[in-house]
Amino acid sequence: MQSFEIELNEIRVKIEKALDDFLPKSDEYPPKIHEAMRYSTFNGGKRIRPILTIKAAELFGLPGEKVLPTACGIEMIHTYSLIHDDLPAMDNDDFRRGKPTCHKVFGEAVALLAGDALLTLAFKTIAKNAEIEGISLKAVMDVIDRISLASGSLGMIGGQTVDILSEGIKIDERTLLYIDNHKTGCLIRASLWSGARLAEAPASELDKIDQLGKKIGLIFQIVDDLLDLHGDEKKLGKPVGSDVRNKKSTFLSVYGYEKSRELVKVLSNEAKEMAREFKNSSFLMQLIDFLVERQH
Ligand code: IPE
Ligand code: IPE
Ligand code: MG
Ligand code: MG
Ligand code: MG
Repeated sequence: MQSFEIELNEIRVKIEKALDDFLPKSDEYPPKIHEAMRYSTFNGGKRIRPILTIKAAELFGLPGEKVLPTACGIEMIHTYSLIHDDLPAMDNDDFRRGKPTCHKVFGEAVALLAGDALLTLAFKTIAKNAEIEGISLKAVMDVIDRISLASGSLGMIGGQTVDILSEGIKIDERTLLYIDNHKTGCLIRASLWSGARLAEAPASELDKIDQLGKKIGLIFQIVDDLLDLHGDEKKLGKPVGSDVRNKKSTFLSVYGYEKSRELVKVLSNEAKEMAREFKNSSFLMQLIDFLVERQH
């Protein structure tokens, strides 16, 4: 294994341990909801968003462990979004992270509630970052402000709304970009920004990291769209062909495979140029390549 992959795994282990600590135990009353929250949180997630938060903090000299509450809170928001995204009323998918989806195992009502509970717990967890030595209260307030904006109707939920309303219709490039920049881009962007903000990065650097986050977010969703049809279901852990079945408007449906792949290449070169501007950004640059080449 290359040192990049070893480090990736080491960070994942820390994130999963912290998530385990932050989530109520399965036997906590009422156990059904806690089982469902844990079922969807563990096994199979790549943990890209919390990794970005940790690495952004480290870019500005703050040890990654100091932002674990925020990193885990963001992963809870992401997990909630996946549970709801898979529901019959949305993408109606039966597999996620290599296992039957939350509603397949626990029923739709408990899946909805597990999503609600993860979203709520996320902000309690992020607030806990204020208890960590060396972290300013103002930074935590700014992070809460930013993550709630990124997750709501002006962010991820806005993107999910236009994604659903665009099924089966022809959309223009502006709308396609709106969907991807919002349903996926906003949270990825906020993940990087939050790590940097907790590390007290100056405003000009926060802007730079934000622009890099926007680019990484778009790359991430275009690759997701490509894998939806061209990926290997076993590696992906979720169904291939979901977007075609739902008549989704995606980069693949609008531009085709070759053009979308070409765009990913251009965007990732631009992203690496932007990352290079930061000192000690070699992990981040390797992560960009990893996100382009990923099979799941
Ligand atoms: C999938 O996200 C949904 C999108 C926003 C594209 P990930 O590919 O990060 O899913 P996990 O967390 O690794 O399962
Ligand atoms: C989901 O996009 C984005 C969010 C969950 C916010 P997709 O619907 O493309 O994600 P997958 O492909 O089901 O993971
Ligand atoms: Mg969807
Ligand atoms: Mg989906
Ligand atoms: Mg998808």
